[in-house]
Amino acid sequence: MSYFSYQHGALYAEGVPLADIARQFGTPVYVYSKAAFSDHYAAYATACKANGRSERDALVCYSVKSNSNLAVLNLLAGLGSGFDIVSGGELQRVIAAGGDPRKVIFSGVGKSREEMRLALSHDILCFNVESIPELHRLNEVAGEMGRKARVSLRVNPNVDAKTHPYISTGLKENKFGIAFEDSLATYRVAADLKHIEVTGIDCHIGSQLLDDAPLLEALDKVIELIDQLATEGIVLDHLDIGGGIGITYADEKPVAVSDYLNRLFARIDAWRREKHGGAPIKVMFEPGRSISGNAGILLTEVQFLKHGADKNFAIVDAAMNDLMRPAMYEAFHDVRTVAQRGEEAKVYDVVGPVCESGDWLARQRTLAIAQGDLLAIMSAGAYGMTMASNYNTRGRAAEVMVDGDKAHLIRKRETPQELFALESIPR
Ligand code: LLP
Repeated sequence: MSYFSYQHGALYAEGVPLADIARQFGTPVYVYSKAAFSDHYAAYATACKANGRSERDALVCYSVKSNSNLAVLNLLAGLGSGFDIVSGGELQRVIAAGGDPRKVIFSGVGKSREEMRLALSHDILCFNVESIPELHRLNEVAGEMGRKARVSLRVNPNVDAKTHPYISTGLKENKFGIAFEDSLATYRVAADLKHIEVTGIDCHIGSQLLDDAPLLEALDKVIELIDQLATEGIVLDHLDIGGGIGITYADEKPVAVSDYLNRLFARIDAWRREKHGGAPIKVMFEPGRSISGNAGILLTEVQFLKHGADKNFAIVDAAMNDLMRPAMYEAFHDVRTVAQRGEEAKVYDVVGPVCESGDWLARQRTLAIAQGDLLAIMSAGAYGMTMASNYNTRGRAAEVMVDGDKAHLIRKRETPQELFALESIPR
């Protein structure tokens, strides 16, 4: 289902015309669909239940980095979601949004002592640890606090996720995780540390995966390791397969979340029956993009049209600082006109006002537009606002959440004064 669709020639977010949102809140503005977030989350939650038996022991930990607005986190918390965080800041967001810290897992290669202390003080579910020095630091911090830290080791299964090199994380050459061949030894170290309780295993092989074959390959490797560990008396109670399922930006056909989860659970169930007398194991996921990506768009207004001999440019009021993905990864985002009109269609590069040649949002798009028109940059709900910056002293965009026929402002547009409020001139 599309949550952003044309009705009588005008583009809507659910039941609200995008033109009304631009009028009320200005542009550029991120617009989210509440129903889209709920439905995308439900695809995971439902597949976790649908196994013909009673409810599974499974937890979906939404990856906060993909879209971390408090309203989004609050919505997902209300649906029962856990959260995958990568900083103390993200933990504070989850708590401020009413999320349950006991459903939080903490990923990332460089956790500071302060972040560890904060997470331990909120008794989070688990730290996903990525190296031996991190284990020692966590052991020390937990010891100082008189606590035990629940730990999962992020192993690197060396599987080719076949995605963009910048967002592939499961190969040997990546900075992430513990090399597969070192994982047994690292588990032994962890098991000997007094303030560490080894509870799980996790991996994350990359993002925007269209096929689940690499994920199932990673699962097979993880399963093998869990069995090996058990022979040494290290018994894990959960496995976390990470995030990664991709979305449609152009004409990609990603595997359906339900098909992927059904295949994954079928393998897990077969393994548990065969080797563990059917004893269940808790299964966790860390999806980001597949929940937030197509739940949001970036709405922008055409400032000027520049028609040249070689190229036409549509200069809009959104820029690379609002949506970094095209400049950073040459990512494709579909561009739709908010009002379908009868102008002559021309081929445009859609660019922003930032002083960089790399400041483009879309290239070579056939658009029938005039100055003052509104454009929707599609599939911008994930890694859009969360990666935005203030380059060129541009305040970050406002954010609006649409719920049926209501539009709620969920983040105000930043003012220039707010941007330099923390600065001072030495006297
Ligand atoms: N878990 C871990 C440990 C991760 O590193 C990531 C994403 C996720 C979960 C969520 O993955 P997802 O389900 O969203 O694929 N900025 C890039 C994407 C970077 C992804 C980094 N890790 C982009 O805009 O495409």
